[in-house]
Amino acid sequence: MLDIFQKAKQNNYAIGAFNASNLEQLKAIVQAAQNLKSPIIISTSQGESNFIGKKQVKALVDIWRQETGLDIILHLDHGKSLEVIKEAIEAGYDSVHFDGSKMPFEENLAITKQVVVLARAKGINNVEGEIGYLRGGSSLREAVEVKQEDLTDPVQADKFIKETEVDSLAIAIGNIHGMNKDQNLENPHLFLDHLEKINEQIGNKAFLVLHGASGTPEQDIKKAIALGIVKVNINTELRLAYTQSLKKSLADNPQVITPYKLMPSVVKAVQAVVEEKIKLFGSDNS
Ligand code: 13P
Repeated sequence: MLDIFQKAKQNNYAIGAFNASNLEQLKAIVQAAQNLKSPIIISTSQGESNFIGKKQVKALVDIWRQETGLDIILHLDHGKSLEVIKEAIEAGYDSVHFDGSKMPFEENLAITKQVVVLARAKGINNVEGEIGYLRGGSSLREAVEVKQEDLTDPVQADKFIKETEVDSLAIAIGNIHGMNKDQNLENPHLFLDHLEKINEQIGNKAFLVLHGASGTPEQDIKKAIALGIVKVNINTELRLAYTQSLKKSLADNPQVITPYKLMPSVVKAVQAVVEEKIKLFGSDNS
């Protein structure tokens, strides 16, 4: 996994981490990666992984990995307790994110350290930690203003990486989860100068991750990748494509009750978003 990040960093692209909780979303993500010959990360949050089942998603990913020969990484997104991290590790996830960002710094640091020890014992070589205050959830919400005090403190980030030995770090640089209900409004611009400050402080000690990328201005994402972001997380835009196309499919075919006849247009809509993001992140043909 870390080889994939290293290669991405050297070649100035990022790997997309796409959230999924059911078979149609997984199909869409894998087909997009296959079409564009791209490595991908499939992320499941606590809720998503509880819905699909951790062992079940692991089995599906294994089959697709064998069939496609692609680098497909299964990642736990925003694990909030040691228990959920343990469950993911036991199920065979390749990579885990412990999100203690809402905890006091010292508590986040102490639990993240334990996560690293647990993960290493099972041969997992990507533990993602998080510091800084990331607002919102992966849904449509009112516009949010990001405050300077929400941003990841570069000195704290450096201490956190050194003491926990995480491989990657989710940072707050103006990014927020979710998108504005008023879809004419983009999310706020990223604080790219702040990303430069984090880079100066931490050097190559950890890979940097951008959460909450749905609805973020594309030019900002490109610049953040040029400044060393190697993993970009997308969820809300996929959820939106899924539900909008499902509603349309149901409305257009009121007599149809056969799920596999209603779902192809949904898979296609989600796949189109994933393909667009893979091209934006520059991981196609890599
Ligand atoms: P968005 O829902 O804003 O795309 O964020 C996804 C994310 O960061 C998952 O961890």
